[in-house]
Amino acid sequence: MDILNLYYSQTGNTKKIAQRIEAAASSLGHTVTTLQASKDLDVDLLRYDFIFVGSGVYLWLPGKPMLDFLRGQRKKSSDAGHILHCSPRLPGKKCVVYCTYGGVHTGINEAIPAVKFTGQLFDHLGISVIDEWYFVGDFKPDEFVHMNTGGRLGDINGRPDERDLQEIEARVRAILIV
Ligand SMILES: Cc1cc2nc3c(=O)[nH]c(=O)nc-3n(C[C@H](O)[C@H](O)[C@H](O)COP(=O)(O)O)c2cc1C
Repeated sequence: MDILNLYYSQTGNTKKIAQRIEAAASSLGHTVTTLQASKDLDVDLLRYDFIFVGSGVYLWLPGKPMLDFLRGQRKKSSDAGHILHCSPRLPGKKCVVYCTYGGVHTGINEAIPAVKFTGQLFDHLGISVIDEWYFVGDFKPDEFVHMNTGGRLGDINGRPDERDLQEIEARVRAILIV
């Protein structure tokens, strides 16, 4: 399959996941294009058979460059007539949406809006969102590291760690082997 591996990562956590997705998908013989989302990124989403899309969570939503990308693509797709009433499914086009998040206050609840928001562009286009993944990612900036302990998820220092990355590999294999 032709796979798009799209991500945004401000402090490196989501990048680690995206790199492991790329390695796992490539090792299965798929062609993987890995791109960092930004306002000006121009990519034809409908060209790919399968898309992984992920971002760190910032104030309950994906990071701003991912938000800008999604909004720009929505407008472009709408103007091009690719967003139709009832969003009919495009045969064979699938997507997994994921995030990394700290969850210090309300746990996974403060990450769910980011994943749901991101998924809507793809769902509108007719690309079926077949799974949603949530990975824990620690706070990197100095002024936030105190949040890595004592929150709803306990001690999240060092996440995503090697064990998380191995889980990702297993999930990628499970979802791509048909
Ligand atoms: C300014 C800031 C805001 C954040 N907001 C949230 C949030 O609303 N919900 C959450 O679960 N995690 C939040 N986090 C934690 C990040 O989502 C987490 O560290 C993530 O793994 C960062 O991903 P990245 O390194 O790929 O950018 C925030 C982190 C920072 C620095």
